[in-house]
Amino acid sequence: MKKKGSADPPWKLVLGDCTTEMASIESGSIDLVYADPPFATNQVQRGRSAVQAYDDRWSGIPEYLDFMTTRIEDMHRVLAEDGAILLHCDWRASHHLRLVLDRVFGPERFVNHLIWKYGLGGSSPTRFARKHDDILYYARGDDRWFDPPMVLATSRKMAGEMKKATDVLDVPAINNMAAERTGWPTQKPLALLRLLVNACVRPGGVVLDPFCGSGTTLVAAVASGRRAIGIDRDPTAIEIARERLEATMPD
Ligand SMILES: C[S@@+](CC[C@H](N)C(=O)[O-])C[C@H]1O[C@@H](n2cnc3c(N)ncnc32)[C@H](O)[C@@H]1O
Repeated sequence: MKKKGSADPPWKLVLGDCTTEMASIESGSIDLVYADPPFATNQVQRGRSAVQAYDDRWSGIPEYLDFMTTRIEDMHRVLAEDGAILLHCDWRASHHLRLVLDRVFGPERFVNHLIWKYGLGGSSPTRFARKHDDILYYARGDDRWFDPPMVLATSRKMAGEMKKATDVLDVPAINNMAAERTGWPTQKPLALLRLLVNACVRPGGVVLDPFCGSGTTLVAAVASGRRAIGIDRDPTAIEIARERLEATMPD
């Protein structure tokens, strides 16, 4: 991992399948895993151009869960005893993945079921509109670093004041005109990853994103003085992440 302008930047990018590549990561060496895998949408997720796409089609939930279970076991192995995982998913698989995490980490290691309330999207005449993703937070062991994040209060009584964040994270999704948009499909907003990284890993700690896509987690980690390792099996994603990281300086 090399720092900008020196022989040793604080980030590393790896092209490949994350289960193969995690095999060469030392056990207990990672402080935070943030994983944003395919969500079992049964679609090819397409971005701005033809090369910006990844396949999220499965024969069914059992195949998806086999894929995820192997990788959750790998993530558990690489985590330090006081490390933690944040697993990003949605209504399609969050209930299944919670059970996988209970089995691999232990139900007593459950910390939070975070809701990312993203705002954008359409409405439905037949059901409540879906406006959130799920982020499952589990600890590896008994101890865990946590720095409660502060967010702007929205109530009229506290307007303009800061308050501790709750388990509902109200962060707008990236809109089409946003400067941070790379074109990679399902790119997450930097503001969300900044909040999660700052809260869940100590400065100087190592963050692993095994499905790093456009590198949002790594950019948030490096900008706030953490180190970061990203893995993705798509060469276009790795190139986008590399460009973003080369332009990132610690705050
Ligand atoms: C939901 S996207 C991640 C988006 C990312 N958080 C961002 O902000 O850009 C999921 C990513 O997982 C990658 N992926 C899918 N299967 C993989 C595998 N087996 N190993 C590594 N990466 C994989 C895809 O190429 C895609 O970039």
